[in-house]
Amino acid sequence: MSDSSRDTAAGAGWGAAEPGAYRRLLPPASAKISWLDPRLLWAARNGVLASWLGDPTGRTRGRWVARQEAAGAPADKVIRRTDPDRFSFLVIGDPGEGDDPQYAVVPGLLTAGGDTSFAVIASDVIYPVGSADDYGPKFFRPYRDYPAPVYAVPGNHDWYEDLGGFMRVFCDDAPPLPPGPAPRPLTRAWLRSLLWHRPDPADGRHLSEARKLRSAPAQQAVQPGPYWAIDAGPVRIVGIDTGLLGTVDAEQGAWLREVSRGPRPKILITGSPLYVDGRHEPCPVEGGGTVDDIVRDPAHRYIAAIGGDIHNYQRYPVTLADGRVLQYVVAGGGGAFTHATHTIPRVAVAGVTERDFRCYPLRGDSLAFYSRLYGRRLRMPRFFTLTEAEATAVIAERLGIPPTRAPGAPVRVTRRVRLVAGLLGTARRPDRARRFRLPVRKVYTQVFSPGSATYSPPFFKCFLRLDVSPEAVRLRCHAATGNRAQEIAPPVEDEVTIPLP
Ligand SMILES: [Fe+2]
Repeated sequence: MSDSSRDTAAGAGWGAAEPGAYRRLLPPASAKISWLDPRLLWAARNGVLASWLGDPTGRTRGRWVARQEAAGAPADKVIRRTDPDRFSFLVIGDPGEGDDPQYAVVPGLLTAGGDTSFAVIASDVIYPVGSADDYGPKFFRPYRDYPAPVYAVPGNHDWYEDLGGFMRVFCDDAPPLPPGPAPRPLTRAWLRSLLWHRPDPADGRHLSEARKLRSAPAQQAVQPGPYWAIDAGPVRIVGIDTGLLGTVDAEQGAWLREVSRGPRPKILITGSPLYVDGRHEPCPVEGGGTVDDIVRDPAHRYIAAIGGDIHNYQRYPVTLADGRVLQYVVAGGGGAFTHATHTIPRVAVAGVTERDFRCYPLRGDSLAFYSRLYGRRLRMPRFFTLTEAEATAVIAERLGIPPTRAPGAPVRVTRRVRLVAGLLGTARRPDRARRFRLPVRKVYTQVFSPGSATYSPPFFKCFLRLDVSPEAVRLRCHAATGNRAQEIAPPVEDEVTIPLP
């Protein structure tokens, strides 16, 4: 195990370092996704249409699930594995843009996780719209040397073509859904269906060729639908599908309540994290209640809730009224562009403070990463670029928290450094927050953060390894920087051991 970003700047991937071997794995010519490309934004319009004109995801999901059941999928959607009492599995969140940051995760993932029993992808398997023909470069090729099965829950991007690609790959080659009943003219549903983005009829031509990259018998897995549970060793892992808008339909909600019963300790995997960026987002269930209500219910014995969607790592150990501690984790750093952590305000939510909160990348590294990115993008590198030491110092000043990594030589926080930190949306300590603020943080995270894939290290990507035993589950967040040192010995950025009840 090598230094982490909490130990040294080199551990974070800064400075001159031997580049990783991951480049050899990249497809010969990969089309890079630009989230500023209007054609791409137009193809990804279904999320906006669903929020304006009503969300059809619940009904479509119900049709997929009914068809899978008719084809023989178990009604309880439980995958019963035969793992021993002690086993390990990986969680990879939001991997699939198919370029450098995704492939940079692979060598370390094989080093630190090649011996695990299976992997779970936590949402957004395939960017931008979940097409079947994108599974070659963004799923089968990157994970071809991972020897075990991969299960997945979809994220909003997998739903942008009505989940067809996801269902074919993960649910036993489910054929496309026939068109649903035509909506009545001049209704909102009618307008939506006129504007709706649909998959190219020729999509999937290359799928059987791509599947050959992961064709070993030990790599195969079939899941009963987009939501499922896995009984493995002493635990049950429950995967939910939160669709286009981060909600759960009534039918899935009833299933979730049912499958959450029983004495097995449980781990939730979701595409909508329940605590994120210092806020509680309990995830509504159609017809009443929330996913978090179900997770907190002491009868259900959840020990952790892990969500993708936001492309970094965050952990909130929340102590519940009955004294239990539930680990709420964001784990979306598996390959797509990096979401900022320097915009996360000083954490004070559900009793969790900066003392217990963990994130990766560290806020200072996130700010330094973004300063380089904007320096390049706006062609003002001399003005924007902050060294990791400057960024770390200004974060400590603005948030009123001590630097996480022991500082090197003292740095001067100049007016330029403060100005850049402000322009890039760095959070402030609550007592210094301005009463009037431009909506910088929101704008930066929602508009600018997408499109921020970079193609040279450090990438600040990560994946989770969970080691399960009858007594405890140990959760580790491993970093991938894109440098060789961290491929050979992926650093542990965070670790927690959760005793089993
Ligand atoms: Fe995502």
